[in-house]
Amino acid sequence: MSLSVSDITQPRIFVLHENTPWVEPLRREFSAIDAPLTEWFLDRGLVDLTSAPPEGIFYNRMSASSHTRGHRYAPEYTAAVLAWLTKHGRTIVNGERALQLEISKVAQYESLVRFGIETPATIAAIGREHIPRAAAGVGYPVILKHNRAGKGLGVKLIYSEAALMEHLASDAFEDSIDGVMLVQRYIKAPEPFITRVEFVGGQFLYAVRVDTSQGFELCPADACTIEQASEACPAVAPSDKFRILPRFDHPHLPAWQSFLAANAIGVAGIEFIEDAQGRPYTYDVNTNTNYNPDAEAKDGRRGMQAIALHLKRLLLDQYASANRLASAA
Ligand SMILES: Nc1ncnc2c1ncn2[C@@H]1O[C@H](COP(=O)(O)OP(=O)(O)O)[C@@H](O)[C@H]1O
Ligand SMILES: [Mg+2]
Repeated sequence: MSLSVSDITQPRIFVLHENTPWVEPLRREFSAIDAPLTEWFLDRGLVDLTSAPPEGIFYNRMSASSHTRGHRYAPEYTAAVLAWLTKHGRTIVNGERALQLEISKVAQYESLVRFGIETPATIAAIGREHIPRAAAGVGYPVILKHNRAGKGLGVKLIYSEAALMEHLASDAFEDSIDGVMLVQRYIKAPEPFITRVEFVGGQFLYAVRVDTSQGFELCPADACTIEQASEACPAVAPSDKFRILPRFDHPHLPAWQSFLAANAIGVAGIEFIEDAQGRPYTYDVNTNTNYNPDAEAKDGRRGMQAIALHLKRLLLDQYASANRLASAA
């Protein structure tokens, strides 16, 4: 569906996305607070640069893994839309810069490090034949992963050069959709978990501990566990796989927030892992974040509710004073 711009007269909240199941929990939260939502599904369509976008708040939820759902150019389409919205001065949550980071871990790491946030040593290899040299540079064991990924695409732990050569020669090897493979130092956690820290409106919401004992591919969304159980999300989670921490504090919190603010990212889940010495390594920034329903039901806090309230506040702040917002007040 492409948006028919001329049909929209009142300012609304637009959610740009390419996967409807991930928007459903957000839809419920919008309806609970009576906020005007328009879902803007972006896969193929038009961007008419000769026209002006509708009035409203735009929340970009484009996902790095969109190609795995058959939407190969959805991020490129979104980039065009965001450029158009930006040019017209529209308020965007997770704008052009967020999208750049969403689809490139290299871009994430090079920004994180500017805020004193340590990332695992990484060498990017463009072309399969360059991967062995990257691995030798990083030192075994190494993690291989896609630069444009999400949901653990291409993540593989490799212990030796022989194992790497075998993997590269096999059908199991799959290059990143953007041709950039990352070869990364393996951070061995003393206990098998990682922590994902959720932010909404640039503010800390909660931290969730994710059990990694059953593998690397993580996706907190319910939709993943139901629909893609066998392949993408072997996280057919034992229900306690995701556990929201009742309390969380971390020395990196101010730096993560500065990083988000500097990149104009309002909503994100930032993942880190601690090694045996308790040293934290930040390795993944999800600007299109999802929340685990079971974990949230146990805890009481709800990410999508926080997002809906944040977006409604932005809409009211921007338009209510101008008295143009009959339907959202
Ligand atoms: N350098 C690393 N050391 C140890 N585990 C890692 C490392 N990189 C990734 N992992 C594991 O793989 C999972 C997926 O990797 P991640 O970088 O988050 O990719 P994606 O963007 O696909 O989620 C992580 O949550 C973590 O469990
Ligand atoms: Mg991740």
